[in-house]
Amino acid sequence: MTRVLPTNNNPDNFFSEAENFWNLNKLYSDLACAKGNSLTPREKQFLRGLLCGYTPAEICAKVYANANANSLRVSLSRGLYRYIEKLLSGNCEKFVKVNATRIPHLLAEAGYKLQSSVPITSIPQKIAFIPPAKKRQDWGEMIDTDRFSGRTQEIQQLQQWILTDKLRIVAILGIGGLGKTVLATKLAQEIQGEFDYLIWRSLRSDPSISELVINLIQFLSQQPLNSEELSSLNLETLISQLLECLRQNKCLIIFDKAESIRINYDDFHELLRRIGEERHHSCLLLTSRENPKEVISLTGKKRPVQTLQLSGLNQTEAREMLAASGDFIGTENEWTELIDRYSGHPFALKLAASKIQHKYHHKIADFLNQESGLFPELCELLKQQFDLMSNLERKVLYWLIVKPDPTFRCAITESVLPFGTEQQFSYALELLRERSLITKHTTEFSQPLILSKYVTKRLVEQIFR
Ligand SMILES: Nc1ncnc2c1ncn2[C@@H]1O[C@H](COP(=O)(O)OP(=O)(O)O)[C@@H](O)[C@H]1O
Ligand SMILES: [Mg+2]
Repeated sequence: MTRVLPTNNNPDNFFSEAENFWNLNKLYSDLACAKGNSLTPREKQFLRGLLCGYTPAEICAKVYANANANSLRVSLSRGLYRYIEKLLSGNCEKFVKVNATRIPHLLAEAGYKLQSSVPITSIPQKIAFIPPAKKRQDWGEMIDTDRFSGRTQEIQQLQQWILTDKLRIVAILGIGGLGKTVLATKLAQEIQGEFDYLIWRSLRSDPSISELVINLIQFLSQQPLNSEELSSLNLETLISQLLECLRQNKCLIIFDKAESIRINYDDFHELLRRIGEERHHSCLLLTSRENPKEVISLTGKKRPVQTLQLSGLNQTEAREMLAASGDFIGTENEWTELIDRYSGHPFALKLAASKIQHKYHHKIADFLNQESGLFPELCELLKQQFDLMSNLERKVLYWLIVKPDPTFRCAITESVLPFGTEQQFSYALELLRERSLITKHTTEFSQPLILSKYVTKRLVEQIFR
């Protein structure tokens, strides 16, 4: 039998901060009634640990030198959990099953939490757990999903990763206008019931990561934390506090437009690294035009991070989306041609739909015959993506229009464009892939159709400049 040896002979020394937030005396005495005997000092100690938001494994590691979470869990579930179940089931009609994470919520609901908690004068090592009175949500600048269509498979895949596989970071990637934001919103709406907290933040303004983390902690900890004290903490400590929140509650954090982080790039990657690597039961959902490097390094089978590379809507989905925006006159072939022309890109199709209705009297054929398809709004969107690239990446994109199966040798011998070293050339290809601008199929590379049209347009403009 494994023996766990206490390192401290006085169990009262551990987790005494729980008394600031919980009516411990009443809880001990009610549990004693449920048990039929007083709680042992060890049982009280474990109970306080759970009320402070620690997991059994963490309590074990903190209290015992020989941390053995399994033997602790067994003794807890045989004893303490059963008394709590008996106590809570006695207060209502149906049997209440408990586990470590549910205990603070259930005991708070049962009225064992103090109404006015002692104000925090210094930031504790752990944020004291105050269970939410009800689920809390902050949708930030959430967008409207009333006209959302399709993406059934993508939503299933994302739900599997977040709810079943319990991944810590999930990223939705793709070029602008593909529907990342609207998909993340739809998904969040569908799975919100599974989380205690939901918070949506757009990173469009490239915020300071410390400020962002403080903002998250203040929302997630749900107690009056002192802003000045939080501001005086360094980023490492702030991220540790945030991770505490992510351990204590099941939170869904959504960061939209993660590609906007430029100035605060290193801090952001540190935040991603820790959310991806450290243990907790929350999830960070990202939307981004490019794959952040920490996400790349943590992604993989049986790893806690996954990415969904979004492509255009399929024919059925795109048609459903268009049909919801108005009336169209067209044959089956014309519908297919219209959707293929934009590779199912939702933003481009919406622009096309508006033109078809207003300029071409609902006739798809007239639009197809008279429009080149690169509307100014679409060019602007693609230009934004182009502006983020290095010169070398742009040159490689131009080159791929001419030669979709590039090797460095043919790029150098057949091209007048300077490509630098072979390593730089391969690196540029890799970056373009991470930015969802090219896709590799065995030896060939392809660009989304609207992007290759745009690149061709720029190439022609350059030649005739
Ligand atoms: N599945 C969809 N159903 C309906 N509209 C969509 C869908 N996907 C994208 N759109 C529309 O296309 C436009 C671009 O979507 P958005 O989510 O902002 O793209 P991204 O975040 O990838 O830049 C929005 O107007 C959005 O409503
Ligand atoms: Mg977006």
